[in-house]
Amino acid sequence: MTKTARQLLEWYDRNRRQLPWRAADGADADPYHVWLSEIMLQQTTVATVKGYFEKFLARWPSVEALAAAPQEDVLQEWAGLGYYARARNLHKCAQTVVSEHDGEFPSTEEGLKALPGIGDYTGAAIAAIAFGEAATVVDGNVERVVSRLFRVTEALPAAKKAIKEHTASITPSERPGDFAQAMMDLGAGVCTPKSPKCLLCPIRTGCAAHEAGDMERFPVKAPK
Ligand code: ADE
Repeated sequence: MTKTARQLLEWYDRNRRQLPWRAADGADADPYHVWLSEIMLQQTTVATVKGYFEKFLARWPSVEALAAAPQEDVLQEWAGLGYYARARNLHKCAQTVVSEHDGEFPSTEEGLKALPGIGDYTGAAIAAIAFGEAATVVDGNVERVVSRLFRVTEALPAAKKAIKEHTASITPSERPGDFAQAMMDLGAGVCTPKSPKCLLCPIRTGCAAHEAGDMERFPVKAPK
């Protein structure tokens, strides 16, 4: 494991946010919970998702229950989260898991990405968080953290490839799900777009942008 990964995991053990889809310390996260939360979090904030997540789980406690629900009930419960294509794919995905996978989510990134509504980010996130696969998880927060850590001067979106490779180079085979969520938490609360709180950052000594003092330049965006 790289020093960066170790420092980040130590920080996460002390600072992890308690979120309803996160398993208790050390326990395995439930793939249904992880999948449902990651789909909801695609274009919606953590604060908003919390309430929706709890309501969905109370109404449909398993993927079988969700698959058996009428689509209009699912869309109705989704109201307010926006992007109804996500809700339709959510329902279709639940039905596919039940009809083609005996109610068990595939346990690999590749298998997950074959399901409706599961793309590169979501497939990697579920594989890492629910199944412990050392998948490379890159969302907007991770993009910012990693582009600063390695001082990626290339502009987005072209820089995505380099950022993914850098992320892979520090992703540990031990606790990859905690690592991914630690990166997300760090990006959300410490390595923020404006005025990052570098004094609170557990990996600032290895951060190239912090060293250069130009953190806010990253990620570099192509001019519009
Ligand atoms: N955003 C998307 N997925 C997340 C997760 N698992 N934890 C925190 N923020 C997230």
